[in-house]
Amino acid sequence: MTKNYLIGAAIALLSLTSCSNSNSSNTESAGTSPSFDEVLTSRRSVRSYDASKKISEAEVRELLLATQEAPSWANQQPSKYYVAISPEKLAAVQDMVGGNKDRIKDAPVLIVSTFERGRSGFFQGNQTNEVGDGWGAYDNGLSNCYLIMKARAMGFDTLIMGMRDADQLRELFAIPESETIMAVISLGYRAEEPNRPERKPLDDVVKFY
Ligand SMILES: Cc1cc2nc3c(=O)[nH]c(=O)nc-3n(C[C@H](O)[C@H](O)[C@H](O)COP(=O)(O)O)c2cc1C
Repeated sequence: MTKNYLIGAAIALLSLTSCSNSNSSNTESAGTSPSFDEVLTSRRSVRSYDASKKISEAEVRELLLATQEAPSWANQQPSKYYVAISPEKLAAVQDMVGGNKDRIKDAPVLIVSTFERGRSGFFQGNQTNEVGDGWGAYDNGLSNCYLIMKARAMGFDTLIMGMRDADQLRELFAIPESETIMAVISLGYRAEEPNRPERKPLDDVVKFY
């Protein structure tokens, strides 16, 4: 009885250990969902991708479905995504991100994020307040935030790139002039562990009254 109990306890301990190992930065391997805090703390801007690991269109669809849960001004949902997943389009976009090219050359997916102007921050065609189309950029950032967090929860990594050539991207994907092109976001698997850039002390950025 005691011997069986000890063997059972050892097996339980071993399986617990393997669970906690697989839950570190590679969240995809265990088939278990990482906690929200694990997603927050393991998400980093990744500038080196594993060229041997691909991502399917179905996975990108699952990822982008999550962005549709993001809040937006009067539910305007102004964000749009243009996904480069074919070798030809990937090669083209790599040439449109300036100095970022080397950082994302092995990412299997590159996503261009835009928002439709004149929707968020507007009512019946009139600007609601001084922020104007800034609310479209705000909504787009929220949508992108859902994207990068969901990506991490799925075991992927991302890099948001503000350094990109909007005119070339517009032509490549025939993006209408009514949309403002914001970031290009790379999607893939990290090839090395990224550093965490230091954050400001909380009291430098928060005031309680
Ligand atoms: C709007 C925006 C634009 C960015 N543009 C670039 C970029 O063009 N190239 C790059 O390497 N990183 C870019 N970054 C990544 C930031 O440098 C990074 O988020 C910041 O240093 C904090 O690091 P972390 O994301 O690992 O926490 C951008 C981030 C944001 C939010």
